[in-house]
Amino acid sequence: MLQLETPRLILRDLLPDDWAPMHQLRSDPTVTRYCDYIASETPEQARTWVRETMVHNAMTPRLSYNLAIVRRDDGCVMGWIGIGRASDQTQGEMDFGYALRPAFWGQGYMTEALTALLGFVFRELGATGVYGECDVAHPASGRVMEKAGLRFVGRVSDEDGSESLRYTASAAEWLARQALAGGAG
Ligand SMILES: CC(C)(COP(=O)(O)OP(=O)(O)OC[C@H]1O[C@@H](n2cnc3c(N)ncnc32)[C@H](O)[C@@H]1OP(=O)(O)O)[C@@H](O)C(=O)NCCC(=O)NCCS
Repeated sequence: MLQLETPRLILRDLLPDDWAPMHQLRSDPTVTRYCDYIASETPEQARTWVRETMVHNAMTPRLSYNLAIVRRDDGCVMGWIGIGRASDQTQGEMDFGYALRPAFWGQGYMTEALTALLGFVFRELGATGVYGECDVAHPASGRVMEKAGLRFVGRVSDEDGSESLRYTASAAEWLARQALAGGAG
C-alpha cells in the first residue's frame, strides 16, 4: 500500500471504509462546483468508485494513484488527491486532480498534499512532466498549483467551449525549484 507522509498529512491508497468520507466529498455541490467529474450522489456510487479505484491502484504496471488525504493528528479523512497517465500526453506524462471537504479549506492542506505527490512522482516514479488545470473562475486551485511549484502556462479551451487555466512542471524545473526553496517536497 502506498503511503506518503508530510508534517501534517498521510496520503495513502484508498481503503473500502473510505466510501463514507468520499461520499460526503463527492456529493457536496460546493466541492464539485469546479470538478464535476468527481460528482456522485448516492452512497452506492461512492462505494463503487472506491472499489473501482482500488482495482486501478492495485494494477501492475500501476498507471494511477488515487489517495485519501488523512490528517495525521486524528486520522480524519479530509479529501482525495489523484494522479495518473495524462489524457493529453503532449502536455505532460501525468495529470492530477484533488478535492477537500470544505471544513478543511484555507489551511494549506492541499498545497502540502500536492507538493508531496509531485515529489513522489518526480523522485520515485521518474515522471518527466505533469500538468493540471482549473476553471478560470477558480483562482484558489490555481494558487494551490503555483504554491506547489507548478508554472502557469496559459488559458486553454475545453471541448465544451469553457476555458481553463493550465499549470505545468517538468521534473527538472520542479526539482530545481524545490532545491532552491530548500523543500523536501
Ligand atoms: C481548491 C482547494 C483544493 C484548495 O485547497 P486548500 O487546502 O484550501 O488550499 P490551500 O489552503 O493550500 O491554498 C489555497 C490558496 O488559495 C487562495 N485563495 C482562496 N480563495 C481564493 C480566491 N477566491 N481567489 C484567489 N485566491 C484564493 C488562498 O488564499 C491560498 O493562497 P495563499 O496561501 O497564498 O493565501 C479546495 O478549496 C477544494 O478542495 N475545493 C473543492 C474541489 C476543487 O475545486 N478541486 C480543484 C478542482 S480544479
